Amino acid sequence: MSERKFNRVCLAYSGGLDTSVILHWLLDQFDCEVVAYTADVGQQEELSGLPEKAKATGALDCIVRDLREEFVRDFVFPAIQGSAIYESTYLLGTALARPLIAKHHVEVARETGCDAVAHGATGKGNDQVRFELTFRALAPELAIIAPWREWDIRSRSDCIAYCQKYSIPVTATLEKPYSIDRNLMHISYEGGVLEDPWRAPDESMFLLTESVENAPENPTEIIIGYEKGIPNSIDGQTYTPAELLHRLNQLAGAHGVGRVDMVENRFVGLKSRGVYETPGGTVLHAAHRALESITLDREAAHERNKLAPRFAELIYNGFWYAPEMEMMRAAIEVTQRNVTGEVRVKLSKGSLQITGRRSPVSLYSEAMSSFEDAGAEDTYDQRDAAGFIRLQGLRLSR
Ligand code: ARG
Repeated sequence: MSERKFNRVCLAYSGGLDTSVILHWLLDQFDCEVVAYTADVGQQEELSGLPEKAKATGALDCIVRDLREEFVRDFVFPAIQGSAIYESTYLLGTALARPLIAKHHVEVARETGCDAVAHGATGKGNDQVRFELTFRALAPELAIIAPWREWDIRSRSDCIAYCQKYSIPVTATLEKPYSIDRNLMHISYEGGVLEDPWRAPDESMFLLTESVENAPENPTEIIIGYEKGIPNSIDGQTYTPAELLHRLNQLAGAHGVGRVDMVENRFVGLKSRGVYETPGGTVLHAAHRALESITLDREAAHERNKLAPRFAELIYNGFWYAPEMEMMRAAIEVTQRNVTGEVRVKLSKGSLQITGRRSPVSLYSEAMSSFEDAGAEDTYDQRDAAGFIRLQGLRLSR
């Protein structure tokens, strides 16, 4: 028994091995009640039998929240508007879901009268930081329990032994060779054989994207529509945010678009090898940039681009609800007012190409840029360029 006292703890629960053990451990350790909470962010796990399973393990209640639309609308799309790509490579699928999951976690905790929140993230990863920074920002009164940092359990076999000892119902699953995190934005794989950064992933690991070898010979062309930087249609058909991302995952995944294999710098100070599948997100980022190329003013675009790596870092490090993030999001928002129009994208053999962009509020002038003589002599007089260059060159010619 612990010296800390809790009456009722809200546990982020997936029904898997780890959180089943945690549920029982909390009951045992703190002699408290446990409310289980499950967020649906598009992880595609069976959620139907979950409340029964949680209660069979000893939970007072189990609350499931469908957060899919909110995830894409309020987290994924703002990240795309701000070109948030961590270390120029990782599209932040896991990092974006964590603050949302934690936000609803504290809501559920408060609604059910809990005095603590518990999560199943380990002590070596980014996710513990993201969850707990969000708890701190949104519900400083709630205590935090992170069993992986406290208990003696070290491995999966320890967990299985624990379940056998206390007859905890666990669905027999094959040992997962990787740590997988899935949501509507991506699937991430870490650990296991991937810990050797030289070792290529097995083809059988990938669930969302076709291999380049098996991707169809014929490309697919699609047109994505954006309104103020927010994607809302594919080939003229409008979709809700979650539907649109789901559809793009299918279209781009079939062509093998969106795989990334990298070694990243975790916030806690470790390097980690991760493999990601982000088919729809990859297309949305690229198409969004293409639309910005005709709708953003040059200097505004360049300023926005300077913010992007810092924005990605704040997301990665878990500072979604920090003051500097609010400031940054407000700045990005302003840049998106005119990012409206359509982009044509060709998907083929593991890659994508932008083949066209258009906008009713385009800043691009065919007449002004034209190589032909005819255009826009009243606004762009080529004779002005001589003086422009002469003054620019003054300090260079000595
Ligand atoms: N490395 C990625 C990140 O920090 C993915 C983490 C995935 N989490 C997991 N529990 N497998 O965002």
